[in-house]
Amino acid sequence: MSQASEETREHWSGSLAFVLAAVGSAVGLGNVWKFPYITGMHGGGAFVLVYLGCIALVGLPILMAEMVVGRRSQAGPVGAFRSLAAPDRGGKLWSIWGYFAILTGFLLLSFYSVVGGWTVAYALKSVFGQFASGTPSEIKAMFGAYSGDPVSSTMSHAIFMVVTIGVVYSGVSKGIERAARTLMPLFFLLLIFLLGYATATTGFGEAMNFMFQPNFSDLTAAGILEALGHSFFTLSLGMGAVIIYGSYLPKDSTLYGSAIAIGFFDTFVALTAGVVIFTIVFSQGMAPGSGPSLVFETMPVLFSQIPYGSLLSTAFFTLLAFAALTSGISLLEVVVSFFVEEFDMDRHLAALSLGGAIFFFGLLSVLSNSLLADFKPFGATIFGNLDYFISNWALPLGGFGVAVFAGWGVDRDEWWDEMKDDWFGRTAFRGWLFLTRVVAPLAIILILMNLMGFLSLEA
Ligand code: TRP
Repeated sequence: MSQASEETREHWSGSLAFVLAAVGSAVGLGNVWKFPYITGMHGGGAFVLVYLGCIALVGLPILMAEMVVGRRSQAGPVGAFRSLAAPDRGGKLWSIWGYFAILTGFLLLSFYSVVGGWTVAYALKSVFGQFASGTPSEIKAMFGAYSGDPVSSTMSHAIFMVVTIGVVYSGVSKGIERAARTLMPLFFLLLIFLLGYATATTGFGEAMNFMFQPNFSDLTAAGILEALGHSFFTLSLGMGAVIIYGSYLPKDSTLYGSAIAIGFFDTFVALTAGVVIFTIVFSQGMAPGSGPSLVFETMPVLFSQIPYGSLLSTAFFTLLAFAALTSGISLLEVVVSFFVEEFDMDRHLAALSLGGAIFFFGLLSVLSNSLLADFKPFGATIFGNLDYFISNWALPLGGFGVAVFAGWGVDRDEWWDEMKDDWFGRTAFRGWLFLTRVVAPLAIILILMNLMGFLSLEA
């Protein structure tokens, strides 16, 4: 039996605090670093359309599913699956999914923190005016030099992990609520400001065409899988982060409204970041498909050319680092609360030891850009492999598990009991259940089979 009883379990102060924390978890490097670069690599518009479809039909129902699984069980993924599963529908076997989720969180944070460290480094570089002058190609070259230096990038990875550990160490609602409440709104404002700037720039029209005019011949099976995987990555789904956050939800919180708000803000940030970045790409004649370095090569070029550039650059990378931090926290929280709830481990000890282990494991990803750059099992670096297998396979499979579990492993009446008081009522409930039982699992299976070549949806 876990020691975190209902009365002692920490809770958010209300729905708004939950939405802020969940938006804090969802909005992060996935939106500003990853979404633009994978959109660039997969040809733009058609990829964006598939991504939006995945968010609406797969991501949102699973987001709701994770929220109710957490709120109903008042536990993390392992405890939740164990306690909610109907005995005749798999019963305790379901908790295996929970262990898988913990491992996924561990591995994801190990490379996430490396990119988070780059944003910290770029914030510092901006303070010192390093992007204030120089040609675009000089500025672009700074990224390769930084990420290729094992010592500096180990240091920034360490800074990112230390701060993440610090917040999880002092407990969720105190640390996370406060950080999310002020910094996320500031980040939105800055992005809107930059968007305004982009509209007045020559590459804006081309950027809009690139992102919103689908050209289906650019779409591959790998691109569709990437869009699906990213819909999980960006909403923080498939490894129990939202289950944990949902377990801190008070019973009177609104579920559908919260899920829609989270989906809206997350998508808004991704699309805005994409438009800003591709505007820079096209005004500067850069290549949209340059990969993971994209945000670090484009934004500083913009800041080098506009008034108050160093100041804006400092603000941008600092806020991005905070957005990454509120996401990293949710990843570490899943791993830490598992050891606290299942093994009665002291929270402080768990945060320090597991965070430390993730730091050390993350060194493999740090060094993927320098000493281990030529070590390429399956044709990619360790960093590349982790990102590919975790984002595109582990998260969708984890999400598939949640959907099947919530849809079929738990009694329908149990959900109706949990959700009937929500002001969206019975129709919304039916819609959610249908998406969770049928549409989301089927979409995931079809996309995975399509990639493995059992189906050929490509023209
Ligand atoms: N959603 C975050 C981002 O877009 C990353 C993240 C945080 C995450 N927690 C997660 C991804 C849990 C998957 C699962 O940057």
